[in-house]
Amino acid sequence: MDMNTGLSTKQRQAVVKALEPLLADEIALYFATRGAHWNVVGMGFGALHKFFEAQYEALDEIMDDVAERIRALGAKAPATVAGFGKATRLKEGAGEAKNAEAMIKGLLAMHEQVIRQLRKDIEVASEATDEGTADFLTGLVEEHEKMAWMLRAHLE
Ligand SMILES: [Fe+2]
Repeated sequence: MDMNTGLSTKQRQAVVKALEPLLADEIALYFATRGAHWNVVGMGFGALHKFFEAQYEALDEIMDDVAERIRALGAKAPATVAGFGKATRLKEGAGEAKNAEAMIKGLLAMHEQVIRQLRKDIEVASEATDEGTADFLTGLVEEHEKMAWMLRAHLE
């Protein structure tokens, strides 16, 4: 069905092209965090197990929002594990790292990369005059910055 929201097909496609790999990155980060929840051991187990759970729950909502933003722009949301594996730009492995500190460092690096990428994606959305997506992505910067702070606080 045709859309008449003031954005051309070309403008919407440019934004979707930025959102698709972002979705893959959010999913990679979700599973890395879920892995840390599963695999963490040590004296801090109880607290870390719960901490990682709170973070992957937040990431679950974020990935859903990114996918639904793609749908709102008229495109189909990618939905295969193989496709996500190909599309993610993040280095995986934090969820299988050797100890809690390495897990946290790995997850923090992933969040920081997503934040840097989001700043570029906001520009893409703004250039396409898609203020809705630019605003949405700006909110994600803040959410990832908060999660990154909580990870970083464990290392200080
Ligand atoms: Fe669990």
